Order: sequence, then structure tokens, then C-alpha cells
Amino acid sequence: MTITDVKPHHIDEILAIEKLCFSLPWTRRDLENQMNSDNCIFLAAEDETGKILGYIGLMHILDEGYISNVAVAPEYRRRGIADTLINALIDRTKARLSFLTLEVRESNSPAIALYSKHGFKPVGIRRNYYDRPKENAVLMTLFFDREENLQYADNVN
Ligand code: COA
Repeated sequence: MTITDVKPHHIDEILAIEKLCFSLPWTRRDLENQMNSDNCIFLAAEDETGKILGYIGLMHILDEGYISNVAVAPEYRRRGIADTLINALIDRTKARLSFLTLEVRESNSPAIALYSKHGFKPVGIRRNYYDRPKENAVLMTLFFDREENLQYADNVN
């Protein structure tokens, strides 16, 4: 498996996985915007034949990172693909961002377990954030160099 930046020829496969995974999937335009934006990182996991197994997207503003989507094709789950994608994203961002944050459905225990494994902590609830079905979101955040950030805050105050 290789981790690569998403390119135009990956979009059809990502769209198909999106439709399998989510009740309100992103559109082709949403995916293309994420691929083309200077404020986004969009990574895919592909096998040796070039088949897309999963992907992860991030939007960054100043020193803040927001994970916008993570999915692995159903038949390739529980093989460490999401682990590899998150590690790749953390490696790409930890030197320049202060934290990564995301929302996840309260009932999505596989995803909550995944993010917890990578050090994300629940920091809040957004009530009725999701539709189809209506559900709360858990807000989870991974702070990079938290102690350093706090020391910096102490120094400037
Ligand atoms: N039950 C419990 N924990 C699970 C799990 C499951 N079914 N699937 C993954 N995890 C957690 C575990 O902590 C696991 O670590 P472990 O293997 O050491 O126990 C960790 O995630 C990594 O597992 P991995 O095999 O890399 O995950 P995956 O490639 O199967 O992908 C998702 C995990 C969540 C991305 C995948 O289930 C998926 O695409 N779900 C649908 C889309 C989705 O809900 N995305 C998140 C939106 S916020």
C-alpha cells in the first residue's frame, strides 16, 4: 500500500467509496475542491495496482487543522489502512499546526476508537449536528506539543 496525494484520476473511486460509507456523501465537486485547494491536504491509500482503498482529507487555516473526511472501502477495513492514513497526515502537519480537530457521529464507535488510538480527546458535543439520521457530533481534538503551546501562552501573557 502507498499513501499518495489525491489526483484527478482517483476521484471516481473516492466518490464510489463516499457513497458506500455516508448517508450524505460528498459530491464530485466537493472532492475536486478539496483536491485543488491550497488550504487542504487530501491523501489516498492505494494498492500496488493503483486501486483506492481509503482516503483522508484535511482543511487547514493558520495553525488549525480540521479533518473533513476519512473512509476506507468496506472490504478493506480492519487492516490498518485508516491507521496508516492518519499517521501520514500527522507526519505532514505536526510541525506546522497546533492541533487537528474533527466531528464524529456519537454512535460511530469504530471511528471514535480510531481517533482515540491516535491521541484525539473528546472536547465537546455539537447537538443534532448530523442529518439522516439526526445525531449529535462528538468534537475530538489532537493537540500537538501541548506543553510547548501552554508554555508559549504563559510567556506571552
Ligand atoms: N471496531 C472498533 N474499533 C475499530 C473498528 C471497529 N470496527 N475499526 C477500526 N477501529 C479502530 C481500532 O482502534 C483500530 O486499532 P486496532 O486495530 O489496533 O484495534 C483502529 O481503529 C485502526 O483500525 P484500521 O484497521 O486502521 O481502521 P480501518 O481501515 O478499518 O478504518 C474507519 C476505520 C472508521 C475509517 C472505517 O471503519 C470506515 O471507513 N468507516 C466508515 C466511514 C466513517 O465512519 N468515517 C469516519 C467519519 S468521522
